[in-house]
Amino acid sequence: MSSQTTPNDNQALPMLIRAFAGEATPRTPIWYMRQAGRYLPEYNELRRGRSFLELSETVELAVEVSLQPFRRFAVDGIIMFSDILTPLKGAGIPLHFEEKKGPVLDQTVADESEMHHLREDFDPGVDTAHVADILKTLRAHIDALPAGTERPALLGFAGAPFTLASYLVEGGTSKKFEKTKGAVFGASEFFHSLSDRLTEHMIRYLKMQIDAGADAVQIFDSWAGILSPADYAEFAAPYTQRIVAALQEYTPRPVILFVGNSAHLLKEMIAQQPRVLSLDWRVQAPAVEREMEAAGALNKMAVQGNMDPLTLYGTPERVRSAASRVLENFAGFAGRGGYVFNLGHGIHPSSPIPNVQTMLDTVRSFPVK
Ligand code: CP3
Repeated sequence: MSSQTTPNDNQALPMLIRAFAGEATPRTPIWYMRQAGRYLPEYNELRRGRSFLELSETVELAVEVSLQPFRRFAVDGIIMFSDILTPLKGAGIPLHFEEKKGPVLDQTVADESEMHHLREDFDPGVDTAHVADILKTLRAHIDALPAGTERPALLGFAGAPFTLASYLVEGGTSKKFEKTKGAVFGASEFFHSLSDRLTEHMIRYLKMQIDAGADAVQIFDSWAGILSPADYAEFAAPYTQRIVAALQEYTPRPVILFVGNSAHLLKEMIAQQPRVLSLDWRVQAPAVEREMEAAGALNKMAVQGNMDPLTLYGTPERVRSAASRVLENFAGFAGRGGYVFNLGHGIHPSSPIPNVQTMLDTVRSFPVK
């Protein structure tokens, strides 16, 4: 299927992918969630006079925005510029983004009677054709980089069923998730059938991204941390687990599982056996080691993370010490299960660029054994 199936070819793989595979790398690879966005003046320049949707749905513009963090910082991963809600729009849910408010869905799927609004026959190659084109264009761009350039990995992504379902039920971003939990606990059967449909959609959507050239894909379960471990195991994990399993059967390319606010969910996340666990900033390294050991996953699963993104609002000294602490805490994973530096959630829109640079410099100069 791809050169990635031949272990001998591993030197040709991007450093990020080699680290995800547990190989020792000359330095710690780094990319970070939401790396393309409003903290970059070149993003704001392209965004001026355009809506977020226009920017993300116009292939040339979305490609350019995806490349901005690579051009400025030479990050080791390029994540396609899109949104987790993009495939919902493709499946029939009209939505828009409002300044200061975030995503607003013009059609909810809040109960059984609204299920039909989320078309069952979502076809990612047709309904989100621009996403395939963005990835193919980025793939061609990376493949055309001059020989000798350290090749960045191309990353695709999708939202997890629980997080997507919360948007569909609430109609937008929520603070307390009352409608979501109302549906989870009050209409469990409906919530399961919505999650089931979203699972099938996301499996198709991520396979399309692999076919379009993604080197790895990340599943964002941003809001599942509002659930207790038992409720997460009942209402969220079975669906991400199905996606992880379907993808890992389809391709040797790594699948990354991110769950927001998930210090209490480590056991349930590890049980899904994703190749890479993306850690929220509240998670402690010894707890990860303990839970992996107990699951027989230690030295078999890579981790990615997990500096508090708001550290970047601090002093340069604070950024340096916080990044160094994360690197030290996870040093035991490098070259074993695998370790990649990232933030513990998306970067915030007014993060000062000099601090981002300090973070990158700290990671790149950190000695690896
Ligand atoms: O990481 C990247 O650089 C790739 C692009 C990306 C975006 N959204 C672009 C975006 C990715 C991976 C996402 C994922 C996403 N979107 C998540 C999961 C990640 C996480 O943070 O937990 C979620 C929950 C969403 C939903 C969403 N989209 C929200 C809540 C918002 C508004 C928040 C905000 O910062 O205004 C968006 C809009 C959005 N998606 C922006 C960007 C760059 C801001 C757009 C703008 O106004 O220019």
